[in-house]
Amino acid sequence: MPKEQFLIAMRFLASSVSVISAKDSFGNLYAMTASSVTSLTIDPPSILVCVNNGASIHDVLIKGENLCISILKKTQQEISNICSSKEQESLRFENNFWDVSDTPFIKEAQSNIFCKVDETILYNTHKIVIASVLRSESAKTFNTLMYADGGYLD
Ligand SMILES: Cc1cc2nc3c(=O)[nH]c(=O)nc-3n(C[C@H](O)[C@H](O)[C@H](O)COP(=O)(O)O)c2cc1C
Repeated sequence: MPKEQFLIAMRFLASSVSVISAKDSFGNLYAMTASSVTSLTIDPPSILVCVNNGASIHDVLIKGENLCISILKKTQQEISNICSSKEQESLRFENNFWDVSDTPFIKEAQSNIFCKVDETILYNTHKIVIASVLRSESAKTFNTLMYADGGYLD
């Protein structure tokens, strides 16, 4: 089966772990762990992320919406776990990791990339969210959380 072979091949694709987050017009907060974050263009700075249509943040990410992409540190596996577990959806912001005063972001992330959705493309089960970068801030040294082969890398 090509699908099974593809799933095996994808285990060998190591990715950085990010959390994407947004606030809707009612003030509801959303966050989701994502490894599909990819740099798109430098001129202008743009970035993309692929979001499953079953994810709670999916419908919020429409053109013009603000979002933050927080690249996680190795020390932030707990945040990745909370933001990738449906059971913990209601607990995602019940901790001290977040600044939710405006677009929510993780205070101690490796990088925080503040963006505005520019375009979305639906492809089968996923929405490709293309966002223009408004500003970003980063820690000084590399300590990014990575995921491959079904688990986090040391
Ligand atoms: C390391 C890791 C990377 C993930 N990357 C993505 C991704 O890029 N896109 C996606 O739609 N789901 C991804 N997921 C799955 C979602 O985080 C998970 O389904 C989440 O529960 C969906 O959000 P919800 O619970 O608010 O519906 C990833 C999960 C993990 C653990």
